[in-house]
Amino acid sequence: MNHVRIENIQIAYDDAGSGPTLLLVHGYPFNRSLWNEQVAALSNTHRVITVDLRGFGDSESSEGPSTMNQMARDLASLMDALNITTAIIGGLSMGGYVVLAFYKHFADRVRALVLADTRAQADTEEGRQTRLKQVEHIRQEGMAGIADAMLPKLLTPETVSKRPEVVRRIRDMMIRTKPEGAAGALLGMASREDQTSLLAQINVPTLILVGREDPITPVEDSETMHSRIQDSRLVVIENAAHVSNIEQADVFNQELKAFLENID
Ligand code: MLT
Repeated sequence: MNHVRIENIQIAYDDAGSGPTLLLVHGYPFNRSLWNEQVAALSNTHRVITVDLRGFGDSESSEGPSTMNQMARDLASLMDALNITTAIIGGLSMGGYVVLAFYKHFADRVRALVLADTRAQADTEEGRQTRLKQVEHIRQEGMAGIADAMLPKLLTPETVSKRPEVVRRIRDMMIRTKPEGAAGALLGMASREDQTSLLAQINVPTLILVGREDPITPVEDSETMHSRIQDSRLVVIENAAHVSNIEQADVFNQELKAFLENID
């Protein structure tokens, strides 16, 4: 694990392999180990950087909302610290919200995009209210209740019943998340901008992946992104829900590798 100091907080990251840089951004409420399978599969051909967003994993938390724009600036600062001018940037779910914010502000630093189980729309009013309730819940009770409520949406029923090691790993990631970090990200997601109008401006190759059974960011959201991003490919992954990169890691990695082969 490495650390870099960004605006007074320590941000943790891993840096594996060499080749074109692929920067991967985890979702909520996870950490950089979300990408273990992708690091293992790709670090023989790429420099794969996985980062703990502020408030998550081994990174420190900051006061107040962790906005998608702030987290995008953190990625740019991390790239500066590592002397990386441009990278292929990928994110899952909240990681995708951050990646879209990154593209909006730093398009010239993006070689290609990977958008996994994510969406361009902002929260609905109802969605915002739910997040505010979750913030209260986390502040009073910690992460366990949220983790148990989220699990059936993250994985297919089949995975939940037949792959206890996957369930344990995902639950562990969630319950280890610092409550103040999770609360900051919830507030940041609740106030995030709608990026639908950005999609038509994206002019880099883009791979969109989504689990067929993802109830959090359903296939339709990925279809919307695919229809508006000119140079995009959409892959719907069977037998996967929201955390498709772990649940069907082989298929996810195969698609990612095929995509990356055409990006220098
Ligand atoms: C995530 O996986 O990052 C979150 O479920 C996204 C969200 O809550 O909108």
